[in-house]
Amino acid sequence: MSCFENLMIGQAPALKTQLRAAALAAATDVPILIEGESGTGKDLLAQAIHRESRRAGAPFVAVNCASLPDGLVESLLYGHRRGAFTGAVSDQTGYVQQARGGSLFLDEVGELPGPAQAKLLRFLETRECLPLGQAAPERVELRVLAASNRDLAADVAAGRFRQDLFYRLNVVPVQMPPLRERREDIPALVDYLTVQLSRQHELAPPRYSAATLSRLQDYAWPGNVRELRNLCERLLILFSGREVQPSNLPAELRTPQAASRPGFALPAGGVDLGSLESDLIQQALAQAGGNRSRAARLLGLTRDTLLYRIKKWGIEC
Ligand SMILES: Nc1ncnc2c1ncn2[C@@H]1O[C@H](COP(=O)(O)OP(=O)(O)OP(=O)(O)O)[C@@H](O)[C@H]1O
Ligand SMILES: [Mg+2]
Repeated sequence: MSCFENLMIGQAPALKTQLRAAALAAATDVPILIEGESGTGKDLLAQAIHRESRRAGAPFVAVNCASLPDGLVESLLYGHRRGAFTGAVSDQTGYVQQARGGSLFLDEVGELPGPAQAKLLRFLETRECLPLGQAAPERVELRVLAASNRDLAADVAAGRFRQDLFYRLNVVPVQMPPLRERREDIPALVDYLTVQLSRQHELAPPRYSAATLSRLQDYAWPGNVRELRNLCERLLILFSGREVQPSNLPAELRTPQAASRPGFALPAGGVDLGSLESDLIQQALAQAGGNRSRAARLLGLTRDTLLYRIKKWGIEC
C-alpha cells in the first residue's frame, strides 16, 4: 500500500476504511467510483490507485467530463477518422485509445450528457468503441476509474444519471470523507503540505503554534484539503521561518468556530435524544431537498452514517 501511505496523508478511521477498500480494489480490474466533496482528494486517490495497480506502467488519462464541449464528447472520448465531420481534417485518437492498457479516470462523471452515458455503458460492457467515421469497432482494454462530487445515487433517483451505468461504475464505491470529519489528521496534513510547499517555493517552513493548530482543527473547511493547502501556501509565504499565531490567521479561522461546533443547552427536564435526532435528520433532508449527501453534510455525518440512522429511525424520504 506504499502509494496510498506516501501520497494520502491521514490516519483517521473515516479515511483509513475507504483507503483500505481502494487498495484492495486497486489490485483488481473493477471500476472504482470515488465520491466526495470538492477538495477531499479524489484526483489524488485515482492516481494512487493507478500507481498501485498492475497497469502502473501504462498511461493514466484523466478526463474532466464537465468540460467536454457539447457535440464533441463522443469524438474526444473515442476518436474520429479524417472526414468524419466538418473540421475533422485528420485522424484523431480519443482519450479511450490514449489510455489503452492503463487507467481512464472519468472525473465529474455525473456531468456526462445522456447519449454519452449510453455509449460509455456500451463500451464498459463490450470493451469495444467506434471512432466516428470508422467502419469497424475497435477493442480497447483499460480500467475505468470515476469520480463525482455529486451524489450519483441521487442523480439516478432524479433521472439525471443512468441507473445501469451507475451500477457498472459503482462496483467498489469509495467515499472520501470531508476534512471536518477527520480533524485529527489536520496537524499531519499541515506538516506534510508545508514541507512539500516549502520545497517547491524554496522557503523555510513556518512553525505552527499549538493554539494555531487548534484553530485549524476547529474550522469547518468547506473547501477541504485544497482549502487547507491554499492556507498553508499563504502562511508559508507570509511567515516563512517564523511562528504562526492565531492572530495571523484569516478572520474566519481566528476565533473558535461557534458555527462548526454548536452547543445545544440541555433543558432542565432533559430531552428525548432519539426523537430529537430523527427530527433533525428530517429537517436536514428537507433543507437539502432530499439530497442525502447534502443532508449528511448539514449534520456533520458521513452519508453512510446518515443512511444507517434514516433506517434506524424508519424515516420516510
Ligand atoms: N490525504 C491527502 N494528503 C495529502 N494531500 C492531499 C490529500 N487529500 C487531498 N490532498 C491535496 O489537496 C488538493 C485537492 O485534492 P484533489 O484535487 O485530489 O481533490 P478532489 O476531490 O479531486 O477535488 P475536486 O472535486 O474539486 O476535483 C490537492 O492539492 C491534493 O494533492
Ligand atoms: Mg478532482
